[in-house]
Amino acid sequence: MSIYILAIESSCDETSASVCRDGIILSNVIAGQAVHEQYGGVVPELASRAHMQNIVPVVDKAMRDAGCKMEDLDAIAFTQAPGLIGALLVGAQFAKSLSLALDVPLIAVHHMQAHVLANLIPTEKNGHPDPKPSFPFLCLTVSGGHTQIVLCESPLSMRVIGETMDDAAGEAFDKSAKILGLPYPGGPLIDKYAREGNPARFAFPEPRIPGLDFSFSGLKTAILYFLQENTAADPRFVEKNLADICASIQHRIVTILLNKLKKAAIQTGVKDICIAGGVSANSGLRQSLVDWGQQFRWNTFIPAFQYCTDNAAMIAITAYYKYQAGDFSELRVEPTARAEW
Ligand code: KG4
Ligand code: ZN
Repeated sequence: MSIYILAIESSCDETSASVCRDGIILSNVIAGQAVHEQYGGVVPELASRAHMQNIVPVVDKAMRDAGCKMEDLDAIAFTQAPGLIGALLVGAQFAKSLSLALDVPLIAVHHMQAHVLANLIPTEKNGHPDPKPSFPFLCLTVSGGHTQIVLCESPLSMRVIGETMDDAAGEAFDKSAKILGLPYPGGPLIDKYAREGNPARFAFPEPRIPGLDFSFSGLKTAILYFLQENTAADPRFVEKNLADICASIQHRIVTILLNKLKKAAIQTGVKDICIAGGVSANSGLRQSLVDWGQQFRWNTFIPAFQYCTDNAAMIAITAYYKYQAGDFSELRVEPTARAEW
């Protein structure tokens, strides 16, 4: 008998629903929230309201895309933490109500664990299944709120062995973009302009942080001073050099990330290396991971593009492993903004 799971993700500014059958993703519907653009960042109250508006049509479409009926469902999963509390509450309440109404188990999922497991979502190219990482593997999880190196021993057993002490990698991209006058979220725009630029043109500093931890706040300050100095000399400096500036910033962020990942690979002896999270959509990081992988003989894995940024398919695959382990939640489970692993 097949196991059908409906999963809901609402931790930040994307409302998403996905249906999986025996770990195979049948649908993955994502509704973004353009309302935040004019404010230069996510406004929590507006995010909660947009989730309220989106959640029914998004779930409805995910069910229809999957060709699935409510009575087919064996469990309902949702993102419990971490995230914006008002946003999480919308998905949690919806999932609880549905689990109660259908009398099927509820599965609470950790958003960061789900980003890691996005690497295990079955995908195929030209009818052939893509290779997936073997355990243990390392995952560099880079998003708007987190930057972590995770040692993953099995689907439900993983631990953070390095993380940022200040800004996340996504924030480093977004804040750099803001300094350059680009709209939010600036990460994808830096990526776009960087494609035309010379990454060696401007040298930004690499912080000396011991161990496997990261720091990005110094980079942000260095970029700010660099631009202040140069625009004082030439007010059109950014306009004339945008591609080279973006390429140089991206190059620095990517090398900070990969140098730590390399250190983690050496320390653990692990050769299967993945990336995950919104910043893993970055073309510079994707290409550099492949290049470094060839150089250091790693087996590298990158989730399909639609599974990198926030999505419910990653919640669904995590829930599928939890279902198999009998790891269900009670209806009184509460979402939390922060969550230890
Ligand atoms: O995982 P995610 O969708 O949401 C969080 O859980 O935070 O990550 C969002 C972050 C944002 O900071 C965004 O600018 C960044 O991922 N991002 C990118 C790219 N696409 C998304 N950063 C650099 N290059 C990209 N192509
Ligand atoms: Zn995320």
